[in-house]
Amino acid sequence: MVSPRPVVQALPAYRPGRNPADLAREIGVARAVKLASNEVAFPPLPAVVEAVTAAAGQTNRYPDNGAVVLTQALADRYGVDPAQVATGCGAVTLCQELAQAYNDPGTSIAFAWRSFEMYPLLAQVAGARAIQVPLVAGRPGGPADTHDLQGLCAALDDSTRLVFVCNPNNPTGTAVRRAELEQFLDAVPQQTLVVLDEAYREFVTDPAVPDGIELMRGRPNVAVLRTFSKAWGLAGLRVGYLVAEDPAVAEAVRRTHVPFSVSMLAQAAAVAALASEEVVRARCAAVVAERDRLTAALRDRGFDVADSQANFVWLPVGEEAAGLAAALEARAVITRPFAGEGVRVTVGTPEEDDVFLAALDDVRSATTVR
Ligand SMILES: Cc1ncc(COP(=O)(O)O)c(C=O)c1O
Repeated sequence: MVSPRPVVQALPAYRPGRNPADLAREIGVARAVKLASNEVAFPPLPAVVEAVTAAAGQTNRYPDNGAVVLTQALADRYGVDPAQVATGCGAVTLCQELAQAYNDPGTSIAFAWRSFEMYPLLAQVAGARAIQVPLVAGRPGGPADTHDLQGLCAALDDSTRLVFVCNPNNPTGTAVRRAELEQFLDAVPQQTLVVLDEAYREFVTDPAVPDGIELMRGRPNVAVLRTFSKAWGLAGLRVGYLVAEDPAVAEAVRRTHVPFSVSMLAQAAAVAALASEEVVRARCAAVVAERDRLTAALRDRGFDVADSQANFVWLPVGEEAAGLAAALEARAVITRPFAGEGVRVTVGTPEEDDVFLAALDDVRSATTVR
């Protein structure tokens, strides 16, 4: 019998997310609302639909494996050299490629916890040790929802090749600010690559939260990860990118790239999306306004919700998380529970969020969930 590597056997089995159409059918309602995956609710940008339609006629050919046009567009957008950019089949693939590029078995990857759920898994697959540093309270008496950058720095050792700082943090939505991040970058050893995972950067409104691409300048051990999946609305097309201060970092990632894994449609869509940045900005502003309304509505209901800098909010309900999410699902609202910790709720349209709030009120009137 064939046998996968022990680390692979130890990985959790993949569980697909709940599909709203299936749920609606199952519980006998017209429509279920999905607020679980941090997508934006807007339809694809018109320019994206046009570009994908035009590219569709060439899909008998392989895509450009170097993603030259997209890489140049990103370099122009961020004022860097194309050699500093690597594209990937979603930022998640770039995370994996980073581990492949930098982590031999026995080395380590450090990150805060709770954070993006892929970090421990990619460490496991690489045979690397995961150094997990617990989040701390972002405000006196509040829940543990914020990076402890001093603790993270202190936890690094000679074996640490990568440290991820998810800013804003998924799933808590909190963000670290310039002074503490600069202090952290100054203190991290040069042989450790700091990856600022800015999947939600476009939703940041706090001016004290730095733009990683600006912060990375002059720091050769810093790279920034971004994605087209969230603000840019291309989750279904799978394209993300890494911008590194040192071109050697981008080159290392490119060497681990699975050939042709950024599809022709994804490349065309991303280029078109970048050219529609004004529309994207307006959409992000609408998401932010709705985030503020949702946050206020949840606080009015007594939930201890931190200021989110992303397109989701975090309900730190602890042991009630799984039960709350199940009760919401029974009312046709899909959220993302983290058992024993909290529930992450994506900012939807105002109508979707009203459905969620009404379901939440209904759950609370039926149970003791706060
Ligand atoms: C923090 C963070 N990083 C990276 C990703 C990966 O995004 P994608 O692979 O869709 O580009 C996500 C997606 O949820 C995320 O939350």
